[in-house]
Amino acid sequence: MAPLVNVPFDSLPSKVEVIEVCPRDGFQNIREFIPTAVKIATLDALAEAGFKTIEVTSFVSPKAVPQMADAAEVMADFKRKHGKIEAVALIPNIKGAEKALEAGADTLNFVLSASESHNRENTRRTVEESLSELAEVCRIKKDKKARLSIATAFFCPFEGEISGDAVVKIIDRGMSLGCDEIAIADTIGTAHPVKVHGTLKTVRERYPEDRIVLHLHDTHGMALSNILTALFLGYDVFDAATGGLGGCPFAPGAAGNAATEDLVNFLNCLGIDTGVNLTKILEVSRAIPDRLGIPLCSHLAMTQAC
Ligand code: COA
Ligand code: ZN
Repeated sequence: MAPLVNVPFDSLPSKVEVIEVCPRDGFQNIREFIPTAVKIATLDALAEAGFKTIEVTSFVSPKAVPQMADAAEVMADFKRKHGKIEAVALIPNIKGAEKALEAGADTLNFVLSASESHNRENTRRTVEESLSELAEVCRIKKDKKARLSIATAFFCPFEGEISGDAVVKIIDRGMSLGCDEIAIADTIGTAHPVKVHGTLKTVRERYPEDRIVLHLHDTHGMALSNILTALFLGYDVFDAATGGLGGCPFAPGAAGNAATEDLVNFLNCLGIDTGVNLTKILEVSRAIPDRLGIPLCSHLAMTQAC
């Protein structure tokens, strides 16, 4: 037997922020249009669970993602009722930034991919073209935050493995343009702890202090192992979607995000404070099949244990 080693659980962060993304990443992948009132009711219920930050919607072409056609109405309602919660809006271009600002978004989550092929599928732009638009977004954002979200940061469905150095190069560009924070996304959910460790270590060495959000899908069932790996490297902000919903309509094979309730339960077990009320999330999650007519992808919500 290999020698016993101590796992340094006491080195993990004592607090973690969980950002709820079901209303954007979860809903965007549902074909049938969810009535605006249902989106708003779900956001109202999630707002009571104690999140500091919620990704409310995306300002994208309604031809590309018809589900998000009511983004302005949803965002304006959310800000009116839940002004203290940081409202994130995903955007793929300058037009999205203008519309998101007009509707009251606090954070513009500009998405571009680490790989050319996925960026073209998702935004019909080269990575350079997206970066030029990001420069413009940073110019017009004024006192709002700009987040650069790097999609397909570990594996691309068209190009395969992405190197940590390639991710760092894009972060360098985003930072030099004036982005306030970065997100690193496993868009197709095929990353594993060894890959995640390699890339995230490279990124942390270069950016030890910056706020870096991790957005990890659970296609291969490794999201929580990947999050544990990230926690050991000091990462402490994670996206998650109630009910484990989610997926990119332009990335074949992508499944849902880490389920918020599974992540919060996991962090609770590790003694890490999230400030999020697990009971409230479970209520929202368990209402999803009735409310949205789709099945859950969550361990906790499907068990009767709590
Ligand atoms: N919000 C709303 N409408 C938008 C928009 C935005 N951010 N960007 C473009 N549009 C509209 C244009 O006004 C135009 O409308 P029209 O045909 O009525 O004149 C139409 O969409 C096409 O605009 P164009 O600039 O030619 O964009 P495109 O067809 O090259 O599409 C994107 C590019 C980026 C707008 C589109 O691919 C997109 O929205 N992608 C987002 C993908 C996504 O959400 N992925 C999942 C999240 S990662
Ligand atoms: Zn996603």
